[in-house]
Amino acid sequence: MRVGVVGATGYVGAEVVRWLTAWPGFEVAAVTSRSQAGTALGEAVPALYDLDALVLQDVESLPRDLDAVVLAVPHGVGEGLAEVLDWSPWLVDCSRDHRHASGWVYGQPEWNRESIMGARRIAAPGCFATAVSLGLAPLVSAGVLRGPARVVAATGSTGSGVSPSRTTHHPERFTNLRPYKVLRHQHVPEIRGFLDGLGDAPAIHMVPWSAPVDRGILASILVDLNEEVDALAVFADAYAETPWVRLRQAELRLVRGTAFAHVDVHQDGEVAAVNVAIDNLGRGAAAQAVQALALAAGVPLLEHPLPLCP
Ligand SMILES: NC(=O)c1ccc[n+]([C@@H]2O[C@H](COP(=O)([O-])OP(=O)(O)OC[C@H]3O[C@@H](n4cnc5c(N)ncnc54)[C@H](OP(=O)(O)O)[C@@H]3O)[C@@H](O)[C@H]2O)c1
Repeated sequence: MRVGVVGATGYVGAEVVRWLTAWPGFEVAAVTSRSQAGTALGEAVPALYDLDALVLQDVESLPRDLDAVVLAVPHGVGEGLAEVLDWSPWLVDCSRDHRHASGWVYGQPEWNRESIMGARRIAAPGCFATAVSLGLAPLVSAGVLRGPARVVAATGSTGSGVSPSRTTHHPERFTNLRPYKVLRHQHVPEIRGFLDGLGDAPAIHMVPWSAPVDRGILASILVDLNEEVDALAVFADAYAETPWVRLRQAELRLVRGTAFAHVDVHQDGEVAAVNVAIDNLGRGAAAQAVQALALAAGVPLLEHPLPLCP
């Protein structure tokens, strides 16, 4: 598949290019940037120095023979661009603009696999949403939750995108740990909307933390169970056939640069604690978006996605 990447100079876009390049069956045929059109991708994004043959261009000049376009642009921009690029046979939007839109499929590959297969318009899930959804979906699907889920989740600085701001740039985050958007993070409705399709979605009370790391999300989820089920067995059953979710120690270092989600499950009577670690740019964005596109278009999946040394 010949794929175009819109926003290739951003953190997610560059990572989409990396995943497509490493994935047999895909070819990165075009890349865009408004601010650096005309510049070689390898010059604009030094980590992609091997890809100097790709030159950044405007969205408007993308070649019409592309099979797919991946949008890695800020929220509010994806919607308009999807209209402009409606000629593309497949569109994947990494922004949150289409996560609840009709005609678009929510690209959660473990639980929405059947809907994604054959879909032409895919909304890639958010990064916090990916981690928390993976930690709650087995329990919601099994119908064993009682009361709300309480979540504390730390994120790395790449989650805020390539442009520094007052609260997200290095001096503010380095050696610091700070709660933000407490009980009002925009991913909570997204998670509940997704879980609603699996069973009775619990209320979710979430405290996000801005952590002094560059990439990764570690979510700790506390729930009450409505009976003394074996929570670990519920997870082992749910993720028995899903190579990208591993019941292993949830630790950022172990998932860095990968498509894996590591989930560890603990239980004390009717209380369960579930920890989920993902790479926000990999499993939480680019790798998941490319996996959904592969599922949708029938490109063989990477069975063992290895770390890509970011
Ligand atoms: N970072 C994460 O961990 C993460 C995880 C999951 C989902 N997401 C979502 O993925 C999207 C991209 O995130 P990011 O962190 O990669 O952001 P980013 O680093 O700020 O990159 C955004 C990219 O979009 C381009 N862009 C901005 N406005 C544009 C416009 N009007 N038309 C075309 N291109 C435009 C920018 O380059 P030019 O200005 O040169 O065009 C840049 O390349 C966001 O919607 C974000 O919410 C991010």
